[in-house]
Amino acid sequence: MIRKCLFPAAGYGTRFLPATKSMPKEMLPIVNKPLIQYGVEEALAAGLTQIGFVTGRGKRALEDHFDTNYEFEHQITGSSQEALLSGIRALIEQCSFSDTRQTEMKGLGHAILTGEPLIGNEPFAVVLSDDLCMNNGSGVLSQMVQLFKQFRCSIVAIQEVPEDETHKYGVIRGESLSNGVYRVDEMVEKPDPKDAPSNLAIIGRYILTPDIFDILRVTKPGANGEIQITDALNEQSKAGQVLAYRFKGRRFDCGSIEGFVTATDYVYRLTMRWGKTILKLRSPIMSRSQILQ
Ligand code: UTP
Repeated sequence: MIRKCLFPAAGYGTRFLPATKSMPKEMLPIVNKPLIQYGVEEALAAGLTQIGFVTGRGKRALEDHFDTNYEFEHQITGSSQEALLSGIRALIEQCSFSDTRQTEMKGLGHAILTGEPLIGNEPFAVVLSDDLCMNNGSGVLSQMVQLFKQFRCSIVAIQEVPEDETHKYGVIRGESLSNGVYRVDEMVEKPDPKDAPSNLAIIGRYILTPDIFDILRVTKPGANGEIQITDALNEQSKAGQVLAYRFKGRRFDCGSIEGFVTATDYVYRLTMRWGKTILKLRSPIMSRSQILQ
């Protein structure tokens, strides 16, 4: 069974400068909750309670967010504000957190390899928290964990993108099996639209089998001179060991300013439709399922 979820979070987040000069991109809030917290909630909802962060310099706030701040919490105990902490407290209670540092930014594949000591020899999930995923029913990771129970191989989440945007993503070619599930034959990282094998793009949710680490160890830098997880998955796909899954739900690219603003607007409007003020977004776990009804 899958118990662990890795969050590569060492990137510089240059698209959000100067906000990310001294603050991790993953701590940027969508309404009143940081991106990383949405990701950890999604992992917990899928039954993954061992959370690993791959961090870098200047990411201290991220680790502190999943720890108790005794002085501050003592001060607001008993006040109406205390309820706003119930969601993060529930996560701290139900999950364990560990972290390791990626000392050189050599790409997402390298970040995942850096996380190997936190994972060991078992299948695991990877979440890029700047891809915010929302839906009515089960979260994307929950959907993927169900699929993993059936197929027991690596799985990437995909969505259709406009053809002129394939250069921003890893793109798959595959045989459709059923209900949005594809057996992947080939993956290409950031192809020009004319070279793209399809418009099915990989987004920031993965389930990986642990043999990926051995493959990553020998994967050469690819697109942008970085070690790409897509290239390592391409090796697994040669043995028919990768599925792509067109998940149910909506994804916001919060690594870009435009996607971030769209997500903020979307969550805010849902909150208003729910008929409450922002301050009523108390328990994130409750609120997410409630506001998305
Ligand atoms: P991005 O491509 O969004 O890069 O990485 P970034 O550095 O965070 O943002 P920009 O482009 O400078 O604005 C996708 C994910 O992979 C992680 C990032 O933290 C992000 O979650 N990542 C990327 C690493 O952890 N290490 C790397 O070397 C590269």
